[in-house]
Amino acid sequence: MSDNLRPESMQRITNFQLANAFIEEQVAAIRAQVGDQKVLLALSGGVDSSVVAALLIKAIGKQLICVHVNHGLMRKNESENVIKLFGEGLDANLIYVDATDRFLNLLAGVSDPETKRKIIGKEFIEVFADEARKLEDVTFLAQGTIYPDILESVKQAEGKKAVKSHHNVGGLPKDLKFTLVEPIKLLFKDEVRVVGEALGLPHAMVYRQPFPGPGLGVRCLGAITRDRLEALREADAILREEFDNCGLAEKTWQYFIAVPDIKSVGVKDDSRYEGWPAIIRAVNTTDAMTATIEEIPYPVLHKIVARITAEVEGINRVLFDLTPKPTGTIEWE
Ligand code: XMP
Repeated sequence: MSDNLRPESMQRITNFQLANAFIEEQVAAIRAQVGDQKVLLALSGGVDSSVVAALLIKAIGKQLICVHVNHGLMRKNESENVIKLFGEGLDANLIYVDATDRFLNLLAGVSDPETKRKIIGKEFIEVFADEARKLEDVTFLAQGTIYPDILESVKQAEGKKAVKSHHNVGGLPKDLKFTLVEPIKLLFKDEVRVVGEALGLPHAMVYRQPFPGPGLGVRCLGAITRDRLEALREADAILREEFDNCGLAEKTWQYFIAVPDIKSVGVKDDSRYEGWPAIIRAVNTTDAMTATIEEIPYPVLHKIVARITAEVEGINRVLFDLTPKPTGTIEWE
């Protein structure tokens, strides 16, 4: 059987005991595979790459080189948290690249969602490849591939068409040749989370909601501008804070703000105040193929509206998207 396919006998990892056994087995396998060589990893701060980082740090410590690329489309404080958790907390060998200008310059004036995705995906590779070329003696590349990714590629190979191109990162340029290290490629997401907690990663990071590879880039609708992106980031941070405060964060699968490229007339301090609307999206799903709306209690909604309109420069209205999937996809782009 291909080692890309999960053997039927493989037990589902549902508790710490099973997770610890998996960790021990993988630590040994990683050490055997890489010996004293260096391993490179693109660490986004998402669950998968974080669990791979923590596993590799446990196995080979400073032989792992993590590269965190900030594409300028991260949520508020996200890059800072990666630096805190991995650079400071786990003493990882971490390279931080602030590529905000590179990405935002390329995206200026681009409004088509799929073109935006392609630009972000391609530039991500370029920035990562630039960093990889600066390093010497790196033979291995670690990836947070998980089992659904493998099943998805099998589906794509069978010619099934997707609604959106979710593949965030294509292959590396030909001059960069690495042997892959993919320690969690046979795990489902729920297992990755159990392993993450067993490795000591914080609960909030291991159970965090999915965040698309193109980040806020597909939530700052149409052509991205820095001021609207900033308004989106601040409004999204308020939504997340309020969801944390009232317990909705624990029970909602995904929740975020999208900001469209339209302005409406409003009023603030007795003056005309033109601003963008912030759109709240909060959904539940099991497989992201269909989704239902999380019912946010009115008092919570009122508080979110009051805070966003008072605290976020440029936003004068807040809307709540009540459309399930279908017909609305989860993201607006
Ligand atoms: P849609 O919008 O297709 O989203 O209903 C389903 C899930 O996929 C996420 N999503 C993406 N994830 N790259 C990603 O890694 C992408 O380009 C992308 N587009 C959508 C979305 O956040 C939701 O969880």
